[in-house]
Amino acid sequence: MTQEDSQNQFKSMTTTLTKPIAAWHTAYETGNLEVDTQHQELFEIVNSLHDAVITSRDFSVLQEILNCLTNHTVEHFHTEEALMMSANYPDYERHKQIHDYLIAKVVNLLHKFRDREASITTDITQFLTEWLTHHIKGEDQKMIQFFQNK
Ligand SMILES: [Fe+2]
Repeated sequence: MTQEDSQNQFKSMTTTLTKPIAAWHTAYETGNLEVDTQHQELFEIVNSLHDAVITSRDFSVLQEILNCLTNHTVEHFHTEEALMMSANYPDYERHKQIHDYLIAKVVNLLHKFRDREASITTDITQFLTEWLTHHIKGEDQKMIQFFQNK
């Protein structure tokens, strides 16, 4: 798959019909373009998952969006962790533990959904929205401020 195909797939997957649950706000910007772009992509994926739940999309659609969410989350956390490592960020271990907690939750959900042991609900999309906004406004902004003050 070319990068353009992958981008088109992402765009078609993140097109939503219903009101987005995760509304982006300038207050969430950290000032780091790469981090901000990835955060906005995560919001779009959560919105598309929410949309798919509300509009009762097929199992395969939900699974595809969950896969996309997992991959983007892992990739995004790697980006932040690499930035923290290269800046000798003093709170690296704790920040990484918080990332690992969310990855474990998302991967567990992905596996349970795949095995038909769990369904995706709006409680889950609500949890993801709240987790992301809380994390961005707290830990991520603190981390970026440290980079900027170095
Ligand atoms: Fe983070």
